[in-house]
Amino acid sequence: MNVLVVGSGIAGLTAALHAHEAGHAVTLITKGSLGDGSTGLAQGGVAGSYGSDDSAQQHAADTMDAGAGLSDPAAVGVLVAEGAERIAELIGRGVGFDRTPDGALQLGREAAHRHARIVHAGGDATGAAISAALIAAVRRTAITVVERALLTELIVVEGAVRGIRLLRGAEVSELHADAVILATGGAGHLYAHTTNPIGATGDGIAVALRTGAAVADLEFVQFHPTILASGPAFLISEAVRGEGATLLDDAGRRFTFDTHPDGELAPRDVVSRAIARQAAAQGRPVLLDGRMLGAETLATRFPTIDRVTRERGFDWSREPIPVTPAAHYLMGGVVTDLDGRTTLPGLFAVGEVARTGVHGANRLASNSLLEGAVFGARAAAAVGMPWLPVHAPSTRTSVHPVDDRSFHAPAFSRAALQQLMWDEVGLLRNRDGLVHALSTVRTWVASLATPTTTTEHEDANLLLVAAATASAALDRTASVGAHYRTDAASADAAPIRHRSTILETV
Ligand code: SIN
Repeated sequence: MNVLVVGSGIAGLTAALHAHEAGHAVTLITKGSLGDGSTGLAQGGVAGSYGSDDSAQQHAADTMDAGAGLSDPAAVGVLVAEGAERIAELIGRGVGFDRTPDGALQLGREAAHRHARIVHAGGDATGAAISAALIAAVRRTAITVVERALLTELIVVEGAVRGIRLLRGAEVSELHADAVILATGGAGHLYAHTTNPIGATGDGIAVALRTGAAVADLEFVQFHPTILASGPAFLISEAVRGEGATLLDDAGRRFTFDTHPDGELAPRDVVSRAIARQAAAQGRPVLLDGRMLGAETLATRFPTIDRVTRERGFDWSREPIPVTPAAHYLMGGVVTDLDGRTTLPGLFAVGEVARTGVHGANRLASNSLLEGAVFGARAAAAVGMPWLPVHAPSTRTSVHPVDDRSFHAPAFSRAALQQLMWDEVGLLRNRDGLVHALSTVRTWVASLATPTTTTEHEDANLLLVAAATASAALDRTASVGAHYRTDAASADAAPIRHRSTILETV
């Protein structure tokens, strides 16, 4: 069969390789160059359950806990059951995961994991090692690679997705296929501050929404707690805190224990909110203190972070460094079943663009590379199999009406959208802010001309996903996981858990 894979992170590369190995004719399309996406930037690793006191069941339990009760147990079960096989496959494809002196996989700890179970490569260069190995594997095959091509539309024939429209430079073209696998990643550039690469503009979600695919859980945006608060966004891996680094307020006090007994290793949303509140209270960023780890450990265990922090003028072996949260990962996305099928026949979604149900309201650290590998392989295996209907989560919401007819939005710019989302649909949300964001975004949507350039398409995609995200956040009136409503009666104390929200239209 002819298969199109759109996106070249771990999920897309794995899907392409598996589809090719299954005998399909595969074309891999990517917006930038191969390796430009989020995978290559990932410092944190891949979660497994290798420790003698660990098990797949405990990894599943931690994943469910992080997801705040909204993860799908069946999807989590698949993730932990097939994870080891996919990690072995990555090793087979040449990823040199870090080893102990006796040759065992070196296991690191990250927040909300009850055990050290994260494998890394090159210390904090895991994603780069995975990306390089998978790209090399693709280059050794007959997979056709199309770079610098933006997905603009899905081609639907008799109710099934049978191809895509692409924009390359000024040229529009069509590719036809039996199946399309979306692996276009997330939408971090909805926000003024993000760890995501420049191409993370929600293209796959927007195109799927326009074509009528079910999308869910967009209100669940994960903010990573520790981005260097100096210069362009640069992530300081959670593994640094996993090794023992602490978060300090202005007075040198470990403030995160005020909100959670696990302190710096509490779930990401809890740590991010604690940091944001403390920074607002003291009027400057909080500090991450890694001095106790020593210069040698910092340099060998975290070579990338060591290099970049020094380039920016910090010697983190001698002084704490300023950190701040930034948008990092989208838990929601295009609804899929356990084989990556979406609600549109012929269309699969894998990786961050997909909402498999694994992450629920909050992703457990180092589960995303794993999810991309596991579900990328499963989607490829499902190509050519009978198409099973996919059921979207049952709770549906319509888009909230804009209630202010005299509303005047400022002129649209991407920066204005990103600041609006950061201010009103970010770490802390309330009804008034969400209504303001939705009103503004809808005014901007109405003012946009039909997109013709890549940037215009990206802006239209960001606006559509922004409206969908604000609407979903407005609809979910209780705080849960990464979605935090300051106007919810039970806010931090006892989040009300209820099933995922589905957006039909914006
Ligand atoms: C990190 O290294 O802190 C990021 C890992 C992840 O997002 O899973």
